[in-house]
Amino acid sequence: MLELSVNDLYLDYGTGASANQILKGVSMELKRGEVVALLGPSGSGKTTLLRAVAGLESPKAGNIMIGEKSVFDGARKLEIPAEERSLGLVFQSYALWPHKTVFDNVAYGLKLRKMNSSDIAARVNDVLTQLGLGHLGERFPHQLSGGQQQRVAIARALVYNPPVILLDEPLSNLDAKLREEARAFLRELIVRLGLSALMVTHDQAEAMAISDRILLLNNGKIEQQGTPQSMYETPDTLFTAEFMGSNNRLPAKLLQRDGSKVSLDIAGMQMQGTARGSNTGKEITAMIRLEEVRISATQVENAIKLPLLTCMYLGDRWECLFDRGMNDGLKLRAYATHKLDSGEYWLQLPQEKLWVF
Ligand SMILES: Nc1ncnc2c1ncn2[C@@H]1O[C@H](COP(=O)(O)OP(=O)(O)OP(=O)(O)O)[C@@H](O)[C@H]1O
Ligand SMILES: [Mg+2]
Repeated sequence: MLELSVNDLYLDYGTGASANQILKGVSMELKRGEVVALLGPSGSGKTTLLRAVAGLESPKAGNIMIGEKSVFDGARKLEIPAEERSLGLVFQSYALWPHKTVFDNVAYGLKLRKMNSSDIAARVNDVLTQLGLGHLGERFPHQLSGGQQQRVAIARALVYNPPVILLDEPLSNLDAKLREEARAFLRELIVRLGLSALMVTHDQAEAMAISDRILLLNNGKIEQQGTPQSMYETPDTLFTAEFMGSNNRLPAKLLQRDGSKVSLDIAGMQMQGTARGSNTGKEITAMIRLEEVRISATQVENAIKLPLLTCMYLGDRWECLFDRGMNDGLKLRAYATHKLDSGEYWLQLPQEKLWVF
């Protein structure tokens, strides 16, 4: 069953000649129990889409259904106000009320809804316990760590028991270490409570870790959607391939195509690659993920010989840069398990991993 569906949504900021098209025909679905990550570069429209779903922005056309209920329909001029959409919201800057305790921060929305106070206490304590905050109800926000504050913001969104929660970069205020812990916690919580969640992030690693499915937004349109594995391993477009991982771009000329097999000229070397996407023209872009480049001291097939420039220590491995310094655009980065001696290496680009767009 679908908890949320967005169909061909258009949204402009401003009107008339100064109108700025922000969403340009976005369609998406969220199934019950699913976590979907909304991923994309800064300014691509992620927050705008979330706010439109929440009822905080007015789209120009399209429709939005929450469960069976239509909450926006451009053609019928139907627009249900935010407070009647019963969604849980956690925003980019999850401002808590500084002069209210944790308990009162979470209870506030229920008080507005005129729930009686013993029901409120039971509901708030239940949610705080679920989030591991049961002992912190009397504290004020400034007496909490960043991670705890972030959980209070999530508690505030969950207290209504919403079937769908919308999260806009909920982990962005946390430092890197805490952020990794928080994303595991958040994923586990969403699954345990049987919620459906649409979560905005611009961090592709976070999107892959937390979601069942990723929607990649590019300049107001969905570029590609799919499981984290399919987005990472079989991107359909150059944009998706570049956004999802760390890549080497190579200066390549097309020699010949034979189905998905492509012969390329890379700096005078003839190489074999694999076509991805729909480009059948002469202008091509060749790329390979850093982790797919194999470093060899001896000659191997489908390889380019380059001198080592430098190796950087990453803790669990080394990232090495190969460059012959001729400004021909031919540079390769690759991972090694140990620090390499200076000298020349054969960098093998396996045919199926050398992507041509
Ligand atoms: N209230 C507004 N009025 C006019 N333009 C706006 C408004 N809010 C956002 N925009 C513009 O809409 C575009 C999309 O903004 P949005 O906030 O949806 O991006 P985002 O994908 O969430 O980016 P980020 O990752 O930086 O949060 C941007 O170009 C932004 O400048
Ligand atoms: Mg945003």
